[in-house]
Amino acid sequence: MKALVYRGPGKISLEDKPKPKIENPTDCLVRITTTTICGTDLHIWKGDVSTVAAGRTLGHEGVGVIDALGSAVSNFRLGDKVLISCITSCGKCHYCKNKMYSHCETGGWLLGNKIDGTQAEYVRIPFADTSLHPIPAGLDEEAVVMFSDVLPTGFETGVLKGQIKLGDTVAIIGAGPIGLATLLTAQFYCPAEIIMVDVDEHRLEVAKRLGATKTINDRDNGAINGILQMTNQKGVDVAIEAVGTPEAFNTCQAIIAPGGHIANIGVHGKNVILHLEKLWDKNITLTTALVDTFTTPTLLKTFVSHKLDPSQLITHHFDLSEILKAYEVFEDAARQHSLKVIIKSG
Ligand SMILES: NC(=O)c1ccc[n+]([C@@H]2O[C@H](COP(=O)([O-])OP(=O)(O)OC[C@H]3O[C@@H](n4cnc5c(N)ncnc54)[C@H](O)[C@@H]3O)[C@@H](O)[C@H]2O)c1
Ligand SMILES: [Zn+2]
Ligand SMILES: [Zn+2]
Repeated sequence: MKALVYRGPGKISLEDKPKPKIENPTDCLVRITTTTICGTDLHIWKGDVSTVAAGRTLGHEGVGVIDALGSAVSNFRLGDKVLISCITSCGKCHYCKNKMYSHCETGGWLLGNKIDGTQAEYVRIPFADTSLHPIPAGLDEEAVVMFSDVLPTGFETGVLKGQIKLGDTVAIIGAGPIGLATLLTAQFYCPAEIIMVDVDEHRLEVAKRLGATKTINDRDNGAINGILQMTNQKGVDVAIEAVGTPEAFNTCQAIIAPGGHIANIGVHGKNVILHLEKLWDKNITLTTALVDTFTTPTLLKTFVSHKLDPSQLITHHFDLSEILKAYEVFEDAARQHSLKVIIKSG
């Protein structure tokens, strides 16, 4: 079968690999029909993610059809269409019992990291009963792929951790797919203002279309002063870091109002300075999290009832045979105007 393989920093290739096999009774095999590329895959491609070994098939998002079932899988049947969660959950350990699936003792972020992932014709899914979701009838498959990672990440690690509430002033730093998913799901709580910050004007235009009340381009490092001016020097109730750089985290800590929440989503590879000398008396809360995906079924319900439309995040379509081109387009976001790129196979 065809698979997109990481071959060390800066190197990815489309290769022929053997089709995976059932290894444990709780596994199933999924024939991938739709997948996509994540900002985290770009970090891996650059060599920033040390847990990913050369030879690994990348990808942790996807929709597909059950192709083979382990003997202990009871929630699914051959031929079922399923949504793959980016986080694998055994459903039994201490962390899973506390809905912290990202820290599952035998699962967590496995796909496209510690085991072969979804950017291939087939993928092996461990703990299938608790790591796959049935897809409600009639939903657009491409939009459903946004529920593997992007939407639960924005909602859980941004909106819920940031405790956004009615009337809040919110700033989201980074208008990539994750920042935009945070923007879409923040609106469930009716904050008064959502200020989006990016350095890419096109992404800020998209943010305006998707509900941002104000946008700031930080190309000249004007975001901090701009947000303080917009808020009468008070700062924001919730600042969400959706980039993964020291500069973006610094913006969050410079604009947070007393009593506010800073929710970090970005994957950080470099040291970040925490300015406790300025924050110690500000009564703020700082949260970090890897997505758990415990809200995926709830978010799918909001899609069914048209309260959420993630298809707005999709900009490009490719066949699996063109996935190297898809990586280039996704990486060159500013010039290509790309957000989520859809990869089809079969
Ligand atoms: N915590 C989790 O569970 C989790 C899950 C998925 C992704 N992530 C991480 O979330 C982050 C965002 O993901 P994405 O897919 O949207 O990535 P992305 O690279 O597409 O988006 C990041 C955006 O930040 C903008 N940016 C760069 N520097 C900036 C600055 N100083 N101020 C404001 N904006 C700036 C870029 O122009 C870009 O639009 C990444 O670090 C990704 O690895 C975390
Ligand atoms: Zn991801
Ligand atoms: Zn577990």
